[in-house]
Order: sequence, then C-alpha cells, then structure tokens
Amino acid sequence: MRTLAIWSIKGGVGKTAAAVNIAHAASLGGTRTLLWDLDPQGAASFYLRVPAQLEGGARIVVDHTTDLGWHARPTEFDNLSLLPADFSFRRLDLELDATKKPRKQIARRLEPLTPRFDLVIMDCPPSVSLVSEAVVRAADAVLVPVIPSTLSIRTLEQIRAFVAEHGHGRTELLPFLSMVDRRKAMHLELCESCLADASFLRTVIPSASVVERMGLTRAPVAATQPSQPVAMAFAALWHEIASKLRGSQ
Ligand SMILES: Nc1ncnc2c1ncn2[C@@H]1O[C@H](COP(=O)(O)OP(=O)(O)O)[C@@H](O)[C@H]1O
Ligand SMILES: [Mg+2]
Repeated sequence: MRTLAIWSIKGGVGKTAAAVNIAHAASLGGTRTLLWDLDPQGAASFYLRVPAQLEGGARIVVDHTTDLGWHARPTEFDNLSLLPADFSFRRLDLELDATKKPRKQIARRLEPLTPRFDLVIMDCPPSVSLVSEAVVRAADAVLVPVIPSTLSIRTLEQIRAFVAEHGHGRTELLPFLSMVDRRKAMHLELCESCLADASFLRTVIPSASVVERMGLTRAPVAATQPSQPVAMAFAALWHEIASKLRGSQ
C-alpha cells in the first residue's frame, strides 16, 4: 500500500480538486483507493456524496482499539472508498497531542489497511500543525499544488523545509502546477521557471470551469466530462505520480 498526502500551507490552491480527481483516476485503473478527507470542511466528502460525519469523530484517529477501515464508505465508483471528514477534525491536533507519540499516530493507523487498499490519498487542511507533521510522517509522497504566483513559490520553499524535517527520510516532495491560465503572461513565465526545477511534476493542471462545476455535479470531472482536457490532465498527473511511487518502493 502506498500513501500520498496532498498538502500545502495555502488554502484554495486545488488540493481537494486534485485529491478527488487523482483518486478517481487511480481507481479507474483498478487501484484499490481510499481517499481520506482530513479537512474538517469536508469538501472531498461532499464531492463524493458521502456525509462528512464520523461516528466517534476525531477520536477514531487515535483510538487503536478500533479498525480505521471500518469507517471507510463506498462511493459510486468501483475501487474508490472514502474515509469521511468530521467537523471535530478541527480539534485533531489536540487529540494527537494527548497521545504518547503524536507524530506516528497516522502512520500507525494506516498500517492495518494494507490488505484492503493499494493506495491511500490524504486530502489535508491548509495548516502547519501537528496533524501536518503526522501526515507527512505517514506519507510516501507529498503532492503540493502550486498556483503560478511568486507567493506560492515562496510557500513551496517553506513546505520543502517542513517535509525535510518531518518526513521519514524517503518522503518524496512532488510539486505540480495547478489552476494555470495560459492567457496570463505571468502564469506562463512562472510555469516556465517552475518547470526548470526538475522536482516539479511535468503535468500542468489548467484552470477549467468544469472543475469549479464539481460543486454542482458532485463527481470527479472524468465521470461527467471525460474528454475535457483537465480530466485528461488529472489522469496524466496520476500516471506520473504512480511511476514515482513505484520508483520509490
Ligand atoms: N483546475 C482548476 N480550475 C478551476 N478552478 C479550480 C481548479 N482547481 C480548483 N478550483 C477551484 O478553486 C477553489 C479551491 O479549490 P480546492 O480544490 O478546494 O482547493 P484547496 O483544497 O487547496 O483549498 C474551488 O472553488 C475549486 O472549484
Ligand atoms: Mg481542500
């Protein structure tokens, strides 16, 4: 089982859009995928039509007497399950902090899921917290959406330092360009400079209104509009990530 965290310090950069569409792309290829919605806002749960409620709330993350997989819900798609968010996740830091080894909790909770899933994708809240430390510790790779702006690129440097400090040594940092508008000269310029950095994934996710419409369709783009360029871009992004995850095994 491979674990992928989608995280950034910034909000509104396309983490949840990427989490849902990449999870769906993976499931289409037969990968048994669990999307874990760790954001108390519950946007990934909403998109996949699963109520953002958990019996037991944030405690289930630290309660080792129960099986985390028990809370996974099927979605409308084969091979795609969702571990829903709960509003109590806003206090997840406190739950982790009350344990002996807070930074190891998420990795330990995921371990027993190995026989059931090939891939766990964690859609993270935009914070720098104990939750982020535990997520980064649990992840084989951290996927970071970067919108083309000078501030986002600065943020990426902070993320790089954070992952170097809190990862498990082999944690891969995978930045990718998100919400790119090719009509903007500034976007094109910044894309070029980002792609000169070999650590950036080559696939660029365009800004597309069909992604915004996911709030209405409540489905991954490829499920409703498979021929849209952005649907194909998310599939290509998943294939690039999958080859990185295989390479690091
Ligand atoms: N590729 C995209 N093109 C257009 N709009 C996007 C794209 N990705 C995300 N959005 C929109 O931007 C907003 C923030 O995206 P979201 O995925 O929720 O970001 P985050 O999870 O980082 O906070 C949402 O309204 C979403 O519909
Ligand atoms: Mg989000």
